[in-house]
Amino acid sequence: MANIIKVQKGTKDILPQEMGLWYKMEDEARRIFSNAGYGELRTPIFEATELFARGVGDTTDIVNKEMYTFEKSERSLTLRPENTAGVVRAFIENGMHRLSAPVKLWYKGPMFRYERPQAGRQRQFHQVGVEMFGVKDATADAEVIELAVSYLNALGLNDLEVEINSLGCPECRENFKSKLKEVLKPYFNELCEDCQVRYEKNPLRLLDCKVESCKAIFEKPEVKEVIQGDFICEECANHFEELKSYLDVLGIKYSVNKLLVRGLDYYNRTVFEIKSNNLGSQNAVCGGGRYDSLVKNLGGEDTPAIGFAMGMERLYSLMQKPEDDKLDAYVVSTDKIEALKLVKYLRDNNKKVDFDFAGKKFTKQMEKASKVANYAVILGEDEIKNGAVSVKNLSTSEQVIVSQSELLSKI
Ligand code: HAM
Repeated sequence: MANIIKVQKGTKDILPQEMGLWYKMEDEARRIFSNAGYGELRTPIFEATELFARGVGDTTDIVNKEMYTFEKSERSLTLRPENTAGVVRAFIENGMHRLSAPVKLWYKGPMFRYERPQAGRQRQFHQVGVEMFGVKDATADAEVIELAVSYLNALGLNDLEVEINSLGCPECRENFKSKLKEVLKPYFNELCEDCQVRYEKNPLRLLDCKVESCKAIFEKPEVKEVIQGDFICEECANHFEELKSYLDVLGIKYSVNKLLVRGLDYYNRTVFEIKSNNLGSQNAVCGGGRYDSLVKNLGGEDTPAIGFAMGMERLYSLMQKPEDDKLDAYVVSTDKIEALKLVKYLRDNNKKVDFDFAGKKFTKQMEKASKVANYAVILGEDEIKNGAVSVKNLSTSEQVIVSQSELLSKI
């Protein structure tokens, strides 16, 4: 026998019985985001590699280790590892800065990261997200966070924690980076290998390290004092205070996590994550923040922006699984032609219906009906002769004979 070719590590088939919840995630996104004025944008799945190197940042793990990059006609292309950079490219390329602000966009689709697969972490996964362009004010930050929470609630997800932080502007960040480097200098040799690189290239990302020995260093009193200290400038601090007061007005509970720095380089000021208490170590269902310099850095007009993305597989694993979706009716008949005609009639009238193709015995067909449908519609010789059908309610076993025209109101 020929070898069986398996699905690639870190990728998954999404099976028909799972689609109900996927439709729900997509339908609720369309409903909630379009009610808030967001239009759907679909960008290509591959883009120029340079877009991510410049957009996401060439010191990030995503760009350094995780991209699916390939060459075609001497061009370097990359399967999108996230969609903010692609949305910004499309925003610039389609002249959306000329539209009246804010420009609000949402998206959904597959993303690709060459990561070590584990529960909640795949190499091909799906994100649903929003991006809002043109508003500096903290009301935009509040709207975007509120939208994320409303969307999660609409999916029936409530046991969640919203964490926020402010990274400040580039100037305050430089100030923080140098303080952090100074206080960590005596511990440099104790930092993990990755952190030693981060120390030089991107010290803020040190705070995101999951290695226990590094985490212990961040708990040292003098280090903790720097991390927990107020390093952001007055303007950034006011922006953050405003955001907090708007979240209070909206009744959104949150906590401030000073270790929250996010794994992408484009952020400034507000960053946030929404975590679930019911996932394992990969517990972030949503990540986002403000990226006021990205549009300009990618060649567009200076335009502030903020957004988030959620991992749909993680949402799926948290959502309540529905009972098996049953058919409205299963047509039981030993006359295949009559069965075909009746099935077509019912489907034309928007009923979910199936029947037996294989000419099985009546009792076998009834057994199948009771497994897959709410009603059996029985078309025996007598019924056919009289232009009638028997309808059996498969949960109560109640059975009635009705004319074919009455049938639609019975199932
Ligand atoms: P991110 O934090 O890299 O942010 O990803 C957002 C969400 O995507 C995560 O919270 C997680 O739920 C999901 N996710 C990420 N990687 C994986 C994976 N390997 N397997 C399964 N799920 C995953 C971004 O992508 C930013 N573009 C978000 C953003 C939009 N910021 C501003 N606008």
